[in-house]
Amino acid sequence: MGRVAIVTGGTRGIGRAICERLREERDCTVVANYAGNDEAARKFTEETGIATVKFDVGDYEAVQNACKQVEDDHGPIEIVVNNAGITRDGTLLRMSYDDWDAVMRTNLGGCFNMAKATFAGMKDRGWGRIVNIGSINGQAGQYGQVNYAAAKSGIHGFTKALAQEGARFGITVNAIAPGYIDTDMVAAVPEPVLEKIVAKIPVGRLGKASEIARGVSFLVSDQAEFVTGSTMSINGGQHMY
Ligand code: CAA
Repeated sequence: MGRVAIVTGGTRGIGRAICERLREERDCTVVANYAGNDEAARKFTEETGIATVKFDVGDYEAVQNACKQVEDDHGPIEIVVNNAGITRDGTLLRMSYDDWDAVMRTNLGGCFNMAKATFAGMKDRGWGRIVNIGSINGQAGQYGQVNYAAAKSGIHGFTKALAQEGARFGITVNAIAPGYIDTDMVAAVPEPVLEKIVAKIPVGRLGKASEIARGVSFLVSDQAEFVTGSTMSINGGQHMY
């Protein structure tokens, strides 16, 4: 097996597709992180044979400990895909501080915590790949998502800053900004709202998780060594940025 890759939020949706593609196309030893859904994780391992590790990406100490454990068990982490994300949608007037905080801690804080746990090792070995999953809604904003849009927009800034720090050590840091992809997260958007959104996608449909996974697979490859600090938008033409 090849390089060790950890994918946060890796047992379902986009994360699962990324895990499968990295193993199939890049021959990676993949470890999928998840936060809470033991049943989905068990099913995932049963169906794919890919190992899982349970921790909250928003918990700094838990991330440091878990990444150390993954390295003890599987070898140095060379590829990190920061995919874990949650929504707590609602207009500002209805949004609680907890809704704000949970999304910032998980979606943006998770990227910081994972980079802290793995960047020094990548630097010492002179090779690393970090791919952060941003969002069209971090680029364009979205009604009812000041928390999510701020966190995802933060991911895009985080990516560009860390790319500058990693470049001289052979570490690339890139983002993918998915549009509306056919996952549980998007299925939770009320039907009439989603219909209006899909009507604005020039390609005329939701994206597939596998379409995001293909982008990740390219960005982690050796051939992508000159690609850093970039954002790959995969959104069916919904937002051109
Ligand atoms: N722009 C302007 N006005 C809007 C609007 C928009 N985009 N969307 C809704 N409104 C208006 C409505 O027309 C309505 O106005 P009236 O009362 O005058 O009719 C008013 O705002 C309230 O709308 P709702 O009835 O929808 O309000 P709500 O409080 O029940 O729900 C909401 C608000 C939770 C934000 C709901 O609209 C919603 O879930 N929207 C979808 C948000 C979304 O796209 N989330 C993406 C999740 S997937 C994801 O995040 C993945 C990714 O990266 C892409």
